[in-house]
Amino acid sequence: MKKYLITTALAYTNGPLHLGHARSTYIPADIMKKYLKLKGEDIIHIGGTDNHGVPITLTAEKEGVKPEDIVNKYHNEIKRDLDNLNVEFDSYGKTHSDIHIETAQEFYKKLKENGYIYEKDIEQFYCPKCDRFLADRYVEGTCPFCGGEARGDHCEVCGRHLEPTELINPYCINCNTTPELRKTTHRFFKLSALSDDLKNYVESSDMPEHVKNMAYSWIKELHDWDISRDIKWGVPIPDSENQVMYVWLEAPIGYISFTKQLGDVWKDYWLKKDNGDSNTDDVKIWHFIGKDITVHHSVFWPGMLIANGDYNLPSSVISGGYLTLEGRKMSTSKKWVVWVDDFVKYFDSDYLRYFLMVNAPLNRDCDFSFDEFQKRINTELIAIIGNFTHRALVFSHRKFKAIPVVDEDSLKEEDKELISKCKETVEKVDKHIMEFNFKDAIMDIIHLAKEGNNYFQKMEPWTVEDENRLKEILYTCAIVVKHIIYLLYPFMPNKTMKLLDLMNEELDLEIRGNDLKKPKVVFTKIEDDQIKMVKGKLLKSEEAKEKKKKKKENKNNKEKEKNEKTKKGDSMDLISIDDFAKIELRVAQILEAEEVPKSKKLLKLIVDIGDEKRQVVAGIKGHYEPEELVGKKIVLVCNLKPAKLCGVESQGMILAAGDEVVALLTPDKDVPVGSKIC
Ligand code: 2FM
Ligand code: ZN
Repeated sequence: MKKYLITTALAYTNGPLHLGHARSTYIPADIMKKYLKLKGEDIIHIGGTDNHGVPITLTAEKEGVKPEDIVNKYHNEIKRDLDNLNVEFDSYGKTHSDIHIETAQEFYKKLKENGYIYEKDIEQFYCPKCDRFLADRYVEGTCPFCGGEARGDHCEVCGRHLEPTELINPYCINCNTTPELRKTTHRFFKLSALSDDLKNYVESSDMPEHVKNMAYSWIKELHDWDISRDIKWGVPIPDSENQVMYVWLEAPIGYISFTKQLGDVWKDYWLKKDNGDSNTDDVKIWHFIGKDITVHHSVFWPGMLIANGDYNLPSSVISGGYLTLEGRKMSTSKKWVVWVDDFVKYFDSDYLRYFLMVNAPLNRDCDFSFDEFQKRINTELIAIIGNFTHRALVFSHRKFKAIPVVDEDSLKEEDKELISKCKETVEKVDKHIMEFNFKDAIMDIIHLAKEGNNYFQKMEPWTVEDENRLKEILYTCAIVVKHIIYLLYPFMPNKTMKLLDLMNEELDLEIRGNDLKKPKVVFTKIEDDQIKMVKGKLLKSEEAKEKKKKKKENKNNKEKEKNEKTKKGDSMDLISIDDFAKIELRVAQILEAEEVPKSKKLLKLIVDIGDEKRQVVAGIKGHYEPEELVGKKIVLVCNLKPAKLCGVESQGMILAAGDEVVALLTPDKDVPVGSKIC
């Protein structure tokens, strides 16, 4: 039997979880876990927390406590959040633990034994006043690319990875002193030697196409990796006196260490077969992560595993897109964030699981807005699924106090048709879930509930006098209800278990005819007042208040202007169809995409418009990775005068919508490149 091991990114213990973590990583993984378990598959979910790294020591120093205290506090809070989201683990660990430290050190020794570690003298910033080397975020300064405020290893403004020594005007974040460069001997991992192995691995993996493309472009630019840090907090490097491993070297090894917590079975998942094969079809290792750490999981970590040689490689990396909040990027420092712990005080976590999965495909960015949340819960979940399941149970209870069981052969054509739709839905949902396409899986379940509602309405059971016929109708409805419960369970475990309890049934597709409990409303509506109250409590950022005020002012001004125009007898500036016809819009396909150097917003694209290729500059950087754009069909304004943006010529303009969340307009169906839009 195939074995599945799914892992979820190990959260840093320097804060609790917010809705973005839930959406990109933990909810999708748990859906997969629950679904495969339901199907009787051998599946385990391994997770835990990532306790090392500079941000954690910085928080500890700021609060005047030990790093262990910070780690324990947030380890517990993160687990509390995951429990509240109903995310189940088979093993949940901490990287600051004996089993992990030992496993990571053994892993390192094997890398060294296999010739993948070497030493090199380098120059690092050193603060003479604090008398220590300034690893990663202990130093800040000005970004050499965009001039923004940057941390040692990363610029928050332009998002670039930096080496601390690249910073302009660096200073020690503890005492503001300008650091000096000092020599230190670091360990390096020979990642660059692995290009060919990594390319072959990515090709043969089950990673989705867009992840593969991103991985290929990173593999092209592989550098050896500095894996030692001159700090105390971390996993000590076995052959060094005072250095620890770079956190990204040891953290993923946690996936192995935490599986070890289960005992000897860990070997069945991780150790390669005697014949040395990896990536066989017997074991599937799937890493669920947020898209910001795709490179670590699709390139660095497989590189480590290849170099080590003992372990199976991941089969796939499932990277969830970002979540914006009310159309704006989430920011913990600006308090523009909704914490899981706050959210579950007001709503059942099932509603969140549902909304975050149905709102957009997993690999896309998506937005959480309270109004949209309320709307989708009320109009889809309550009005369709809740309505049908409730009606069917109430009616059966009233008439028979139980689900009547009948012989399926004697059913009428329309009953059989609905039952066969149930079976088709099981197949469709299975296909979608196995492709991590959770949105379409939910849409198919909703569709089945709609069919159930139509059937109920058409059969008018309240008018049926023949008891046998009534039993057949209610039996058919109960089959649909059980299919909905079964398929929806991985998405909404709380609500579906409540329905099952009312039916006195088990989590499968059978109907046993047990006595029904008195039906209760399981899917409760979200009222306007409730949403308003929760918005007031959870959306607190100062900046947001300011923005709201401005938006209101703008709206008022516009209305005033409009009123004045109307008064004067003016109307809106309307254009004629001939004006519109002057714009030549065509479906184009993106062939190449790359960043425009030194620009925060621009990407340079080469697009095919059917009879020629064009170079177009588009302000969509940060909203799309260049790699994910290649192959996309978009809409291009073809007859715009060429213009230069940041020194790069643009021969047209692509159409996109949105402000904080930017979406390219793409054709709804596959139409040929060059198709005219009219
Ligand atoms: O980005 C993060 O939150 C990391 N703590 C994820 C680590 S995942 C794994 F590699 F351990
Ligand atoms: Zn200092």
